Amino acid sequence: MSETKQIVVLAGDGIGPEIVGATRQVLDAVGSFEYTEHLIGGASIDEHGVALTDEVIVACKDSDAVLLGAVGGPKWDEAVAKDPTAPRPEQGLLGIRKALGLYANLRPVKPSPALIDASPLKKELIDGTDLLVVRELTGGIYFGASGRRDDNGGTAYDECAYSVPEIERITRAAFEAARQRSDNPRVLSVDKANVLETSRLWRETVKKVAEDYPDVQLDHLLVDFAAMKLVSSPAEIDVIVTENLFGDILSDEAAMLTGSLGMLPSASIGAEGDPGLFEPVHGSAPDIAGQGVANPLATMLSAAMMLRYGLGDGEAADRIESAVDAVLEKGLRTPDIYEGGEGETRVGTEEVTAAVLAELAQG
Ligand code: IPM
Ligand code: MG
Repeated sequence: MSETKQIVVLAGDGIGPEIVGATRQVLDAVGSFEYTEHLIGGASIDEHGVALTDEVIVACKDSDAVLLGAVGGPKWDEAVAKDPTAPRPEQGLLGIRKALGLYANLRPVKPSPALIDASPLKKELIDGTDLLVVRELTGGIYFGASGRRDDNGGTAYDECAYSVPEIERITRAAFEAARQRSDNPRVLSVDKANVLETSRLWRETVKKVAEDYPDVQLDHLLVDFAAMKLVSSPAEIDVIVTENLFGDILSDEAAMLTGSLGMLPSASIGAEGDPGLFEPVHGSAPDIAGQGVANPLATMLSAAMMLRYGLGDGEAADRIESAVDAVLEKGLRTPDIYEGGEGETRVGTEEVTAAVLAELAQG
């Protein structure tokens, strides 16, 4: 990666600025980047009255990649509780995903061997888990018509719609990702085809696309059963492809295989050549914001995904991932993953960041 890359940084709310600040240091240790900071979520609501401005969308479109922290917090939830029409921080996140056309959300789940005891699940169950959730991110119930009707004392509705092209492109993204991951690629398509019409179209379309990928094994599961499989035999799963809402739920469930939501990175990708957006799966953790104890590792691992998928520098991505592994191996733990076991040291954001930087300086 020769020339300086332009990164838009959307730190957001809560612990966002802390984890993104830590991650910038790590990025600077592996490459040359120019950062432009912009507001999103609650921070943008406070300044501009909306969770996302057009100016930020334009800046993101002009960038090479977008690094995002997290959005949301009690302050804005309270405002919405008082007035349901008040702006919500999450609108910023959904808005930028939609505006950038980021239809494919990749959430890899590979428990670090050093953290295997941090998971609430039995070690022998998690052993060998290395899966990828490919979540459709710009369609479905998240973006359908929604509202309230004044009948029967009040009714609310959220429409879920999927078009064939929307299903085709996310399916292709999943098959391609599966091929890249291994020589024995498997895709598990998750739906609710026994109930939902969108799911029946989903299944039909996935099957058709699969004809172009005869080397990839395809299976289908209903989402309730898939939720069970995810905790009963996660090591059997390779790539999951699913719609927006199921992917949201299943990826949080899958996160617990790693012991902490604080460890999970994600990449959101759109059309070829367009900037992607990279963010940790966890939220803004307002309860610990500003205390210097936030776990920045998921954001650093998201930066690694940014290098690999967004900026074409797999080597720098490997370096960050190895440095994070090494730091965990040495027993450094932010409170969210601290178990009090032998060889563990409880540290804050600054110390864990310094340790990652030290590993990078050595390697
Ligand atoms: C996620 C989050 C978001 C989502 C929220 C904050 C809108 O849970 O990225 O998984 O539901 O997509
Ligand atoms: Mg979620």
